[in-house]
Formats: sequence, structure tokens, C-alpha cells
Amino acid sequence: MAYFDHNATTPVAPDVLAALLPVLSESYGNASSIHQHGQRAKQLLETARRQLAARLGCSPKEIVFTSGGTESNNLALAGTHRHVITSSLEHPAVAQPLARLPNLTVLHPNSDGLITPEALRAALRPGTSLVSIMHANNELGCLQPIAELAAVAHETGAIFHSDGVQVPGRLPLNLSTLGVDLYSLSGHKMYAPKGIGALYVRQGVELHPQLFGGRHESGRRAGTENVPGIVALGAAAARPLADLTALRDRLEAGLLAAVPDSIVNCAASPRLPNTTNIRFAGLEGEALVIGLDLRGFSVSSGAACSSGAVEPSPALLAIGLTREQAKSCIRFSLGESNTINEVDELIVAVTASVNHLRKLSPTYV
Ligand SMILES: Cc1ncc(COP(=O)(O)O)c(C=O)c1O
Repeated sequence: MAYFDHNATTPVAPDVLAALLPVLSESYGNASSIHQHGQRAKQLLETARRQLAARLGCSPKEIVFTSGGTESNNLALAGTHRHVITSSLEHPAVAQPLARLPNLTVLHPNSDGLITPEALRAALRPGTSLVSIMHANNELGCLQPIAELAAVAHETGAIFHSDGVQVPGRLPLNLSTLGVDLYSLSGHKMYAPKGIGALYVRQGVELHPQLFGGRHESGRRAGTENVPGIVALGAAAARPLADLTALRDRLEAGLLAAVPDSIVNCAASPRLPNTTNIRFAGLEGEALVIGLDLRGFSVSSGAACSSGAVEPSPALLAIGLTREQAKSCIRFSLGESNTINEVDELIVAVTASVNHLRKLSPTYV
């Protein structure tokens, strides 16, 4: 089986696992305890905080550990807001908490999948207190011009949050120069385990805690810290990044050459180097996912959390695809263990599966 679904989740890297395991069996103290077991856990926690801060280009004080991307997003967006601006590309962990707000503006991307600084400026009002626009879309991979967008939001004093969950495992980052106020990330998209994440909170930015019951994380997130997960996240943050651009481009070029009527979504935009989202006219993406699974390849036809749902992906509709077009898209997301050989075999498998499905399709002529 070859795994091409790293935007859904990554495996835990062997060196991350090696850092994590002894914490479970040996350094199991509660980081709030004053005895040596507790202090050892506290040291590990603070080392991991420094590792993550170094990776993100921020101060360790600006990191709040959470249970993952969903919690980081919910924490970032909490509080009362007069007017909030977001985009129609967001993951449900941003879209759903914001949907409850009475005064929300949702910006739609252009056909390249981008929210322009001009569109944001036009939507700003004197009462806009928060702007939340994701850094990289999980399905399309398109990267928003975050530095420009944050600068525009700051023109009227709004706080700028970005869901960065898909980015830290794939691209170098410097949050200080990016200019964001709040930035969410998740361990299981960067070779650490599931159930650990972090929120970057720029110094001076007010946070509205959502969990109460202790002074953990400087009063910003109560609950005994997940020290093994945090150590793993720190170890993941300290790993060198693999550049998957050449492998992704090989896959993309190979598929476009072998499969007629295939189109790369958002091909003209800056994109994550590991992601390609391709529309294969005349078939159902879900059927292709199943066909490829039977041939030994794991891919996705939308966000993992909505797989199985009959509704087409909102992000694909947001870039202007029809419902039928949106349902015929497949996301291939590569990871550091993928090989040239696997990519070449995947091209052969996709070509065979698409040909098979198109023969059965009443709409493809
Ligand atoms: C862009 C984005 N935001 C948020 C999340 C949620 O993160 P987690 O699974 O850690 O809660 C995901 C996970 O799929 C994601 O891709």
C-alpha cells in the first residue's frame, strides 16, 4: 500500500517516536508537580516549547499547547466580536465556530483560489475586530498572501488569525515577519501524533481561554499538559523539511500527460509543495478513491472529515467549480517517505482506474 494522503494525516516519524516513547515510560511526571519527576516533565515541556518557537520564528512565551488544530482554531476565534471577516475556503474548525456570529463577512476566493488584499480591504469596516484566513488550503494546497492580508487587517486595528495547520510540516515559516497575531497548527500534519497542537499568540494579543480549572499554559489553557505529545511536537518541529516539489511535479506532469481531460485545480497559484488537486472530467471522485484503494493507493476526494458525505467540498465550490466538477476531483498529498517508484506506479494506477470508470460513465463521451 502506498500512502498519498498526508494532508489528512502524516505517520509519526521514527525519530519523533524515539523522542516520545521514553516520556511515556520514564518521564511520566506531572509537569505541575514540584518533585523531581514533575520537574523533569516540566523541563521536557519547555524544551519542546523552545524547539517549536525556533521553528516558527517566535518567542516560546507565544506558544500555547492545545489538543490540535480544531482546538487551536476555536481558542483563537473565541471572544466577542463586532464584525469578523473570513473566507469560504476555511476548514470547518474555523467556519463552524464563526458561523454562529451575527456579523460575519465571508470572502470568496478568485478562480486561482486566492483571497486578494484588495478584496479584504474592501470588506473591512471600522468595527472589524477579527480576520481569519487560512494559510494553505487542505484540499487545494493554495497558499494565501498572508503577510499582505495581515498588513491590510492591521490598517483598521483588526486582529489577524490564520489556520496554518497544513504549513509547518511543509514550508519554512517565520511568524514574526508573516505579521499574524494568532496562528493554529497541529502535530499530526507534521509527523507528530494526533491529539497535540499549538496556537501562536503574539505577545500583547488578548486571548479568551476556553478551558478553565488550572493555571497551565500561563492561564491560557487549563488541563494537565500532554507532555509526550508536546515532546513529539517539539521533536517534529526540529526536523529538517523534505522538499517534495519535484516529486509532486512528476506526479502532476505524469497524470496530465497520461489522462486526457484532467485539470490541476489552482495550478497558477502558489501552492504547498506536497499537494496537487486534479479534476478528472466525467467521473465521481469517490469511485476513483475506492478504485485506487483496491489497487493499493490511499488518496482523498476532499477533506478527510467530510469523506463519505455526498455533498461536494465547499472549497472546490468556492473556486467556482460546479457541483459535478467538484465531485470529480482527487487530492494527492505527498509525504517524505513517498518514492519516485511509488509516484510512477500511482500514475499507472490512476490512468487505468480513470479509463475503467469513464467507460462506465453515462456523462463522459
Ligand atoms: C486546515 C485544517 N485546519 C484544521 C484542521 C483540524 O486539525 P486537527 O485534526 O488537529 O483538529 C485540519 C485537519 O484536517 C486542517 O486540515
